[in-house]
Amino acid sequence: MTSEKSSELNSQHESQIRSHQPVMLEEIAQCFATVPPGVVVDATFGLGGHAKAILKANPSVQILGLDQDADAIANAERMIANDASLHGRLTVRRIRFDSLNTLLEELSIKEISGALFDLGVSSPQLDIAQRGFSYRNDGPLDMRMDQRSELSAADVVNSYQESELVGIITDNADERFARRSLERLLLLDRLRRLRIWLK
Ligand SMILES: C[S@@+](CC[C@H](N)C(=O)[O-])C[C@H]1O[C@@H](n2cnc3c(N)ncnc32)[C@H](O)[C@@H]1O
Repeated sequence: MTSEKSSELNSQHESQIRSHQPVMLEEIAQCFATVPPGVVVDATFGLGGHAKAILKANPSVQILGLDQDADAIANAERMIANDASLHGRLTVRRIRFDSLNTLLEELSIKEISGALFDLGVSSPQLDIAQRGFSYRNDGPLDMRMDQRSELSAADVVNSYQESELVGIITDNADERFARRSLERLLLLDRLRRLRIWLK
C-alpha cells in the first residue's frame, strides 16, 4: 500500500472514531455501574466506546478488552498511550473471544466481574471500503475481521463448491432464498472483477 493510501485510510479511521455512536451506551454503562470491583471483559472492544463509558460509570473496575481486528487494537493502544487515566485500568489483547479462557489463565485472572459481547461489525469495518464489508462503498470482497485470516470472502465464493456456499448461507444467515442470494453474490463478484480488469 502506498503511504498516501495508508494516510488516507488513517484519516478515514480517525473521523470514524470521532463520529462513533456505540449502541445503548447509557443502558450498558448503567448495567456495569454496580458490578463488583474487579475485571470486566469487553469481548468485542471495537472503538472502545462502551469500555470508556463502563470505566467512567464504575471506578472500581478494570477492563480487559479483546478484539480480533488489528485496527481496533492499534486504536486501543493509541487511546491508552494518550490518556494517563486509562493506565492500569485498560488492557487490550488481539484475540478472538473464543480464546478467552486461555487468556484469563495466562493473566492469572480467576474470576471476572462482568462481560460484554457487542456482537457484529464495527463502524470502521463497514465504512472503510477496503475492508470489503459494505454494500454502499466500492471495495474488494474481503470481509476478514481478523486481517491475519487466510481466506477472504472472495477466496471463499470463488473456491468453495456451490452446494457448500448454499449451506453456509442457509445455516449462518437464516436465509430462505440461499441459492438466489448466492447467484447474485457470484454475479456481483464477477462484475466487480471484470470492472477491475477493464481499468
Ligand atoms: C459492534 S463492534 C463493537 C463496538 C464496541 N462495543 C464499541 O463501543 O466501539 C464488534 C467488534 O467485535 C469484534 N469481533 C467480532 N467477532 C469477534 C471475535 N470472535 N473475537 C474478537 N473480536 C470480535 C469486531 O472486530 C468488532 O471490532
